[in-house]
Amino acid sequence: MAEFSLPANSKVKKGKTHKAPEGATNVRNFHVYRWNEEDGENPHVDTYEVDMDKCGPMVLDALIKIKDEEDSTLTFRRSCREGVCGSCAMNVDGTNTLACTKSCDDVAGDVHINPLPHMDVVKDLVVDMSNFYAQYASIEPWMKTKTPTPANKERLQSHEDREKLDGLYECILCACCSTSCPSYWWNSDKYLGPAVLLQSYRWLADSRDEFTGERLDELEDPFRLYRCHTIMNCANTCPKGLNPAKAIADIKKLMVERQG
Ligand code: SF4
Ligand code: F3S
Ligand code: FES
Repeated sequence: MAEFSLPANSKVKKGKTHKAPEGATNVRNFHVYRWNEEDGENPHVDTYEVDMDKCGPMVLDALIKIKDEEDSTLTFRRSCREGVCGSCAMNVDGTNTLACTKSCDDVAGDVHINPLPHMDVVKDLVVDMSNFYAQYASIEPWMKTKTPTPANKERLQSHEDREKLDGLYECILCACCSTSCPSYWWNSDKYLGPAVLLQSYRWLADSRDEFTGERLDELEDPFRLYRCHTIMNCANTCPKGLNPAKAIADIKKLMVERQG
């Protein structure tokens, strides 16, 4: 099997290779970023040879097999295994995606797995999402109203108004888009990033929400919204097929409309 080599200027060194069991004939290499603050070692990339004849089809299946059978210290987040919780977001083969919905067959050659880019690593493939969640909380992601709740009935919405939330409500907050956005890499302390802005637009677009003006006031700032420079990585990487760039453009349109 060809020897895996890192780019000459890589600061991440090669670590251990975990061999496939004797007799395995359908072996693939998984090169996985490893870092554990507690062991005092520098980040490195461990290689795991996985017998694909005894492994499920998805990248997450391979990671679970590695953790169960080869190396219990390998650390990553996962929960639903079907693309709805967003916890298994990571960089596979150079693209941010969900490990549970990414088929190993869709990767040519060795499988390279890294944490989401430009995020502080807590351990191995687990990144610190605190800032991302604080930004999400800052947009107050719930329905806010001023008029009294109608007696004995829900706040209704027409089918047409409900359809305006399609392409928004499906977001699972995996952060694949935000961590693919160069503007977010450089300004994540001040720029909200595509995921949180898409979520913000989800409430701006909701006919039942009565705080549209106040929500727009909160975004009227040189960084929070306007650091989007239409780079489009967000739309290209979203594993749910959503388009945060369009949501951001729609917010900018609302900003212009209210000035006119
Ligand atoms: Fe994930 Fe897509 Fe939502 Fe971004 S828009 S957080 S990539 S589901
Ligand atoms: Fe970033 Fe997407 Fe805008 S990649 S700059 S949020 S279009
Ligand atoms: Fe839930 Fe992958 S484990 S989205």
